[in-house]
Amino acid sequence: MNRLTIIKPDDWHLHLRDSPYLESVVGDSARQFARAIVMPNLSPPVKTCKDALAYRKRILSALPSDHQFQPLMTLYLTDNSDIEDIKNASRSDYIFAAKLYPAGATTNSDAAVTDIKHIYPILDAMQEYQLPLLVHGEATGDGVDIFDRENRFIDTSLNAMRIDFPELPIVFEHITTREAVDYVVAQGSKMAATITPHHLLINRNAMFSNGFRPHHYCLPVAKRESHRLALLKAASSDSNQFFAGTDSAPHSRQAKESACGCAGIYSAYCAIELYAEAFDLAGDFSNFEAFMSLNGPAFYRLPVNNSKIVLQKSSWTVPETLPFGQQSLVPFKAGQKLQWKVTSND
Ligand code: DOR
Ligand code: ZN
Repeated sequence: MNRLTIIKPDDWHLHLRDSPYLESVVGDSARQFARAIVMPNLSPPVKTCKDALAYRKRILSALPSDHQFQPLMTLYLTDNSDIEDIKNASRSDYIFAAKLYPAGATTNSDAAVTDIKHIYPILDAMQEYQLPLLVHGEATGDGVDIFDRENRFIDTSLNAMRIDFPELPIVFEHITTREAVDYVVAQGSKMAATITPHHLLINRNAMFSNGFRPHHYCLPVAKRESHRLALLKAASSDSNQFFAGTDSAPHSRQAKESACGCAGIYSAYCAIELYAEAFDLAGDFSNFEAFMSLNGPAFYRLPVNNSKIVLQKSSWTVPETLPFGQQSLVPFKAGQKLQWKVTSND
């Protein structure tokens, strides 16, 4: 197979940052995707509907003029989130979910939730209004081995929320383990998971290949090869519980190549091509369109996009660096060849 036509995809998990970086990255997502769920972990975070609507305006004004791209906004939950914001978000045409970061789990999460019990009234309201809860599923705390954080989160937090709020739509974001795949499948239709292109393409060895590779460091960190294979199997399966969410998370080259480098992989430049590469490795494109373009809208109860894109099998090289404000960033697969290219996109 060397040509694929699919319904235009959406990115169900994206970091766009804020000015002056926003202007550098938003065009990449707008060129590839029709819509994206935009993460709220700015500094300061996007906590209220007012914050989210103001951020949306900044995103729209940073877009190239001929765009059709729609940012789908989210709220950042804290121990003090307000139920009124949940109610208003559920009625808003622009806000589609709220994000749970365990405090300290990742970039700009210090102001987030210190104990899930603190947000139980919020989860109750979200369940009532059917506002999806997006979960960064990693247990924090010094005692937890970094490779066990996702599994520990299932045991200590996610399962409790699932039992206490059985009707709450939950997206388990950027899953990285076989256990997470199995857990999601076992929960049925009120739970889904996003899978990133990098977790489909690299395992943890990529971080330590002939030296430390900061551009392969993200959170949750990539796991063993057997987990990568389980993710690939889930993404390419006929389950409608898995869909594309890049977790494209730009940081400057300087911030990554540092004594304490930031977590995040920038995949937005060629995200669709990266997913195609992964499905090609799995040797099965039969569920590619469902994963990229159908399962996400179905879970979020949104219409499917009405335009199409064409991918062609043809080799090209990812740039070594891209502009990032006054700095630069190193995209995922920088300087490497990819085998698929989006050739038509309307
Ligand atoms: O690698 C990551 N980068 N994981 C996250 O959860 C956050 C993200 C970021 O915002 O930099
Ligand atoms: Zn993220």
